[in-house]
Amino acid sequence: MPEDALVIFTPSGKRGRFATGTPVLTAARQLGVDLDSVCGGRGICSKCQVSPGYGEFPKHGLTVARDALSEWNSVEERYDQKRGLKKGRRLGCQATIQRDIVIDVPAESQVHKQVVRKAAAERDIVMDPATRLYYVEVQEPDMHEPSGDFERLADALRDQWDVEDVTAGLAVLRKLQPVLRKGNWTATVAVHRGHDSEGHRILDIWPGYSEDRLYGLAIDLGSTTVAAHLCDLRNGEVKASAGVMNPQIRFGEDLMSRVSYSMMNEGGDVEMTKAVREAIDTLAIEVAGEAEIDPKQIVECVFVCNPVMHHLLLGIDPFELGQAPFALATSNALNLTGADLSLGSIHGDAQVYILPCIAGHVGADAAAVALSEEPNKSKDLVLVVDVGTNAEIILGNEEKVLACSSPTGPAFEGAQISSGQRAAPGAIERVEIDPATKAPRFKVIGCDLWSDDPEFADATAATGITGICGSGIIEMVAEMRIHGIVDGPGLIGSPEQTGTDRCFMDGRTYSYLVWDGTEDGGPKITVTNRDIREIQMAKAALYSGARLLMDKFEVDTVDRVVLAGAFGAHISPKHAMVLGMIPDCELDKVTSAGNAAGTGARIALLNIAARAEIEETVHKIHKIETAVEPRFQEHFVNASNIPNAVEPFPILGTIVTLPTATFNTGDGDDTGGRRRRRRA
Ligand code: FES
Repeated sequence: MPEDALVIFTPSGKRGRFATGTPVLTAARQLGVDLDSVCGGRGICSKCQVSPGYGEFPKHGLTVARDALSEWNSVEERYDQKRGLKKGRRLGCQATIQRDIVIDVPAESQVHKQVVRKAAAERDIVMDPATRLYYVEVQEPDMHEPSGDFERLADALRDQWDVEDVTAGLAVLRKLQPVLRKGNWTATVAVHRGHDSEGHRILDIWPGYSEDRLYGLAIDLGSTTVAAHLCDLRNGEVKASAGVMNPQIRFGEDLMSRVSYSMMNEGGDVEMTKAVREAIDTLAIEVAGEAEIDPKQIVECVFVCNPVMHHLLLGIDPFELGQAPFALATSNALNLTGADLSLGSIHGDAQVYILPCIAGHVGADAAAVALSEEPNKSKDLVLVVDVGTNAEIILGNEEKVLACSSPTGPAFEGAQISSGQRAAPGAIERVEIDPATKAPRFKVIGCDLWSDDPEFADATAATGITGICGSGIIEMVAEMRIHGIVDGPGLIGSPEQTGTDRCFMDGRTYSYLVWDGTEDGGPKITVTNRDIREIQMAKAALYSGARLLMDKFEVDTVDRVVLAGAFGAHISPKHAMVLGMIPDCELDKVTSAGNAAGTGARIALLNIAARAEIEETVHKIHKIETAVEPRFQEHFVNASNIPNAVEPFPILGTIVTLPTATFNTGDGDDTGGRRRRRRA
């Protein structure tokens, strides 16, 4: 009987006794240590690398001798010569245990490694993608025991990897025979693990051992923009990201106008479906090009989108979503293929996962935000606001979670604002107004200097000063309110009322001059009273959604606020609160989550368990339909004031003192904008 040796794995701390001669990989498997292997211990893939530790380990009460592992063998020697093995590393499938030892599994050898995300506020993702590579040795055919090559491949997957119930499409069957023979009855297979009942699907096969990388796309399909992140399915690395305008904008800027387009134009929905699918296909080619890979290596896609985009992506007429009771064709998560969505640029058998929708107005994008921000696991009461053309609002804690969506319209994205533009170099993104002169100074995207810096003109010569983006307009209006240029009801004052001739008569109301670049052929950037109305409507829609959820929760305050959305990271909490976009809250309790819906898509792409988790979570989220809630309208009217006609905002009061004067002299007030328009 060979002697037993104690083996301790780090960082997991798992330990056990093994007979001398046991390969490290075998010991790791028996203890459930996360050590990778694609070739199944055949010394080909090098994924099983470990770092043995020698000497004193007082923590473990162990002294490890130099000969605690078997000698360096010929397989390791060959691998080291051909590809190079880092100093001190061994191949876990080759090195065998001889005496007590401590073995470290480096991060790159772990299957379920954590993808550490850049921003501190972001949550790490544990890698467990649905599609993985397996190396197999397949039995050669035998005339006396006739069976198909595919059946023997399935046997190999079952016997060597415990992968059962495999299926494959025609494309794989067509290449199977030449591949197996070329690889001398060895092959690397890409296998997609479906839902519980669905078994496994072979997506592709290569002869012998292949390092072919697999990629996935996480797509955030928004009403205004479509954003895609290309991720390496082995380590979760984002290889490239890109975004395009949603081409459906030409059929209507907001969701409701797209629903009406499909109602009023025969085949309108088909046209919109085609447009968005083509845009996604082109986007896939673009990100693949940026990462210098073949788009056919994209074997998985995960989508998050609002309900109207969801239906239009699937080719389902969104008609029912335009009218009460806002019934979805299906709210369940969907497992489809790229071919179902006519995505011709990616792998022919690419698998598509669409997150579940929460309700008729609360879509898979809100589910993705919930997956990323986990309000259901929060001890304190958190309000998550995903600011976009259609705001997704979630309020909750570990006891309960409520969600609604609110039609903010595209004003926060710079649309429908006279000098508004998308966030791009040259767009004003930060604003400060001088309390004495009432003149603004600002920063534009692409330049770190304030506009009153002597170097500013040179630094912005290339981009110019082109307009105001979403975060810029929020700061602009809030600063105008703080410095008495716009009043609580949202009226810009006259030069006499405001003390600055930057305010000038512009039709029936006043506008405020921000920047006049006309001398150098640039634009004249102003804020008109109509712009203020647009922002009032957008922020009132957002606030009243949040307030409605607070009513349902029977609270008047929240513990913290998370701003999400493509430009959520750029919103200044103070200015958002001056505007009354978000409830009164300590400023340091207002944080930004970046593009939480996109992050949720990435989590679902890289971790299959997260899919089951969010499918379960959405069932527990209570949906509130703002359109049928009478108090929504009341909140909306109150929230049209800056910051609010009735709510006190006491914490804000300790930070800034807002002027109380109003500018309405009773003639010519443009109040038409205060009626709320339903956008979707
Ligand atoms: Fe593949 Fe060790 S498991 S080289």
